[in-house]
Amino acid sequence: MNKLYTAYKYLIYRFQSVDEHGVHSPFVFNLLLNVIYNKVKFYNYIKIEELRSKLLVSNQEISITDMGAGSTKGIKKARKVKEIALHSAKSAKYGQLLFRLVNHFQPKTILELGTSLGISTSYLASVNSESEIFTIEGSEEIAKIAKNNFQELELTNIRSISGNFDTELPILLDRIDTLDFVFFDGNHRKEPTLRYFEQCLSKATEKSVFVFDDIYWSKEMTEAWEEIKKNAAVSVSIDLFFIGIVFFRKEQAKQHFVIKF
Ligand SMILES: C[S@@+](CC[C@H](N)C(=O)[O-])C[C@H]1O[C@@H](n2cnc3c(N)ncnc32)[C@H](O)[C@@H]1O
Repeated sequence: MNKLYTAYKYLIYRFQSVDEHGVHSPFVFNLLLNVIYNKVKFYNYIKIEELRSKLLVSNQEISITDMGAGSTKGIKKARKVKEIALHSAKSAKYGQLLFRLVNHFQPKTILELGTSLGISTSYLASVNSESEIFTIEGSEEIAKIAKNNFQELELTNIRSISGNFDTELPILLDRIDTLDFVFFDGNHRKEPTLRYFEQCLSKATEKSVFVFDDIYWSKEMTEAWEEIKKNAAVSVSIDLFFIGIVFFRKEQAKQHFVIKF
């Protein structure tokens, strides 16, 4: 992460972002009121945050394969579970936003690129036991802990896939018909992000929702986000700074929103 770059972009975002009063699109206005700014505390949040608290004090040391830079060789290093929980998992605020998005749009087939310990996966999966969540993680020992976490939370609708996105994503896409919701949260570089986006696009429908994490993590990630926004298939795009959301709704005119969150 380029901290100086992210801080600079955050300042710009603070000046540019608006709330529901600055939005004229009925679709986005309703999304803000009912989903993005919805303060209702869902019961499911409690168990997931209890799990996070446990992981945040776990001194268990595991050997992880660092795939963040997209290395196919993967550099092994030792890390404590509590460090991974602190630095890799999406915060409660964003996990709960993912939950509300899924609750609102009711996607049947969900994909997550980057499981880590499974915190965001648990938010995605706990809305509706009828939905099917595929989540891919390249670091085997982390994926093992995530699977235990899913068992502990009694989430039986998650299909964990171990391996590199580069190889696992095309295999998965071959065996599913449509992708209703995708959370891109791993391998934060421009070329792979755009490649995964294009691959997932082949299974998107007009109702699909794609969420991109860390769009201001680096200049490369912002460049990827800019290209995604420009893609002809994307109609509405929403910038919440730490995540970007895109929609493919054909009845909407192409429009971009920078929203306070
Ligand atoms: C930011 S973490 C995911 C956090 C998780 N979504 C959450 O919020 O709880 C990103 C994960 O993606 C995995 N990852 C990164 N690049 C990958 C790749 N090319 N293939 C498979 N996994 C990868 C990393 O090992 C890491 O665990």
